[in-house]
Amino acid sequence: MSTAWQYTTRGRLSTTIKQVSKPIPNPKADEVVVKVKAAALNPVENQIAQSPDVLLNFMGAPPMGTPFVPCWDFSGIIHSVGAGVKDHSAGDEVFGMIPNMTGNGSLQEYVAVSAAAPFVKKPEGLSWTDAAALPLAYGTVYTALINYGRLAFNPHPADVGRRSVLILGGSSGTGSMGIQLAKKMGLKVVTTCSGKNTDFVKKLGADEVIDYTQEHVAQRALHSQYAPYAVVLDCVGGTDLIPHLDHLILNDPVAPQLGIYVTIVGDKTGRDAMGGAITNQQYYYPSQAIRQLRGRLNDYLPSWLPGRSALASRRYACIMLSPSKAMFETIAEFMKTAKEVQIDSVHAYKDAPAAFTRIESGRARGKVVVEVSK
Ligand SMILES: NC(=O)c1ccc[n+]([C@@H]2O[C@H](COP(=O)([O-])OP(=O)(O)OC[C@H]3O[C@@H](n4cnc5c(N)ncnc54)[C@H](OP(=O)(O)O)[C@@H]3O)[C@@H](O)[C@H]2O)c1
Repeated sequence: MSTAWQYTTRGRLSTTIKQVSKPIPNPKADEVVVKVKAAALNPVENQIAQSPDVLLNFMGAPPMGTPFVPCWDFSGIIHSVGAGVKDHSAGDEVFGMIPNMTGNGSLQEYVAVSAAAPFVKKPEGLSWTDAAALPLAYGTVYTALINYGRLAFNPHPADVGRRSVLILGGSSGTGSMGIQLAKKMGLKVVTTCSGKNTDFVKKLGADEVIDYTQEHVAQRALHSQYAPYAVVLDCVGGTDLIPHLDHLILNDPVAPQLGIYVTIVGDKTGRDAMGGAITNQQYYYPSQAIRQLRGRLNDYLPSWLPGRSALASRRYACIMLSPSKAMFETIAEFMKTAKEVQIDSVHAYKDAPAAFTRIESGRARGKVVVEVSK
């Protein structure tokens, strides 16, 4: 037998998860079963747990009441493999992500994972907690800066220090990873955080820091020596900077492919509601969906077209991460520059509710991790 943390009622996970016993799963032909060493927490777990049934249905999640084991990020050791699995063996040390909409998450001692899921071998020397903390946040900022931002993971030496990014929320789990990835990519970084986190983001390599509690973020960002930005990466949400996109975003005829505002949250500001691309589908954010559409037209409409500016605007995307094994294979190289993973706190498995209390506070600095087994 083994155990799992799961919930069956809507609400904040710090109050709703309960520990239950369950058999160790047997892998299906295309699955591996992982003995979980660590699981990291992300705001999405609470957002799913508080979604109405209509949204759960839309996302492919079971209706509330069906036992749901939360968490996406994991590190662990492969315990058993299905008959059809060729690339993994029992005993492999792995880490990655379960895109967990079905309730078979990583906050349990043994989890069955599709062999095709985005997980890879753990680099030697990376601790279990650091490995679990990386995938979702790294995958998100990689998707934003490289897939959408069209910046190079390995920049040409001549480009190092030439481009800049603005990261909103530099002390967050995603923002701190975003600063580290941007520095690895040779970018100048301007970031926002509250005053107490200034030294933290500077240590990660931020070149300029804006205290969002004291300063006017848009004005400071617009007048920075590093403006305009190849990417504005929003890890906070809201619309404060939207009126300034024309001036904030790089418009370089030599590199017309660059210049985008990428938000991983969207116009919403509450932490409990689902964010990212899903908000483009919801009727209460039509202006966000139209902004994204107009941003896409920027790529397709020729510059000479009369009335172009009425149709197209600066590129804008409200995104979901699109993780892959190939993306996570780059983590070993990322860590050579990043050196350490920013961990807010590590909690014992028995204290998983306290780990959720921490992430629900909205004040975590870096990642919140649960050590599932020693
Ligand atoms: N679309 C996607 O694929 C995707 C993927 C990952 C995450 N997300 C979303 O991205 C958001 C961030 O996730 P996360 O894991 O990074 O969150 P997190 O680590 O829990 O965020 C907490 C941090 O945010 C900072 N913060 C709060 N308000 C801020 C503001 N107005 N300006 C600057 N910093 C602020 C806090 O710093 P202070 O204490 O200094 O305020 C704290 O360090 C969540 O909404 C999450 O759902 C989306």
